[in-house]
Amino acid sequence: MWYNVLNFGMLKGFIMAENIRNIGFGVDIGGSGVKGALVNLKTGELASRRLRIPTPENSTPTAIVEIIGKIVSELEVPEGTPIGVSFPGPIKNGIVTYIANLDKTWLNTNINNLIKDSLGLEASVINDADAAGYGEVQFGNARGEQGLVFASTQGTGIGTAFIYKGVLIPGCELGHIEINGKDAETRAAASVKNRENLTWEEWATRLQVYYATIEHLFSPDVIIIGGGVSEKADKFIPLLNLKAKVIPAALRNQAGIVGAAHYAAVEQKERNSLKHKISEAFSVKSENAL
Ligand code: BGC
Repeated sequence: MWYNVLNFGMLKGFIMAENIRNIGFGVDIGGSGVKGALVNLKTGELASRRLRIPTPENSTPTAIVEIIGKIVSELEVPEGTPIGVSFPGPIKNGIVTYIANLDKTWLNTNINNLIKDSLGLEASVINDADAAGYGEVQFGNARGEQGLVFASTQGTGIGTAFIYKGVLIPGCELGHIEINGKDAETRAAASVKNRENLTWEEWATRLQVYYATIEHLFSPDVIIIGGGVSEKADKFIPLLNLKAKVIPAALRNQAGIVGAAHYAAVEQKERNSLKHKISEAFSVKSENAL
């Protein structure tokens, strides 16, 4: 598919050069809630109330897509608004290639097609951590950062993204690196703190092991910690001892919504300009044929 997520780096340059719409719409699918809002794409601020519907236990593709439809209609998203969906698993050419924290029937689902067939909507779907990292590049703490930024989201799982010199490198799944024989997110995600009733100190000890491993392998200059728990960053960031600068995500829990909306607007613009080029090429051809 031409608008493969891997085109992010190129899209970034494109964003700078082209105007996009002022308002987009972002939906963030999470393990505990599906959240959506209209987004002001010039400022990165929400342009409507944020609607959250709890993720049902049976988090099948049909159930989640129905919730997306509900959010779109309750917030009265105007026709033509670019719609971005941030998804808690890797997406390759619209297809879910791995799923840890939603119903396993998501595996190999083409989420773009599903949304189109069920809701009649053209959406741009992107991994949630990529959306959040992308949001931070556009509006948050990664803007203007010239070094290597490791953006992570702490929630049901651990989402990860790299941004280098302002360009997002999509698709990394470093929440699943194995540390001491265990999948890292099953030890160090924010949800584990709640599930195991860990104190901030106990959880920070696990975060320390996790981020020190990332630091050892990739040497980022900046580590961003996002997700809902970043609202309480002062409880755990000061407990970490790392060489990189560690900061909370500027967009906090909104990064997925904002990043997805912006990504969708850029994709929509690119899609339209491609359509325009094709129709121009056709009209030149038919003129020549006369
Ligand atoms: C998924 C990632 C996702 C992260 C946060 C992980 O389990 O594999 O793709 O970004 O959770 O939702």
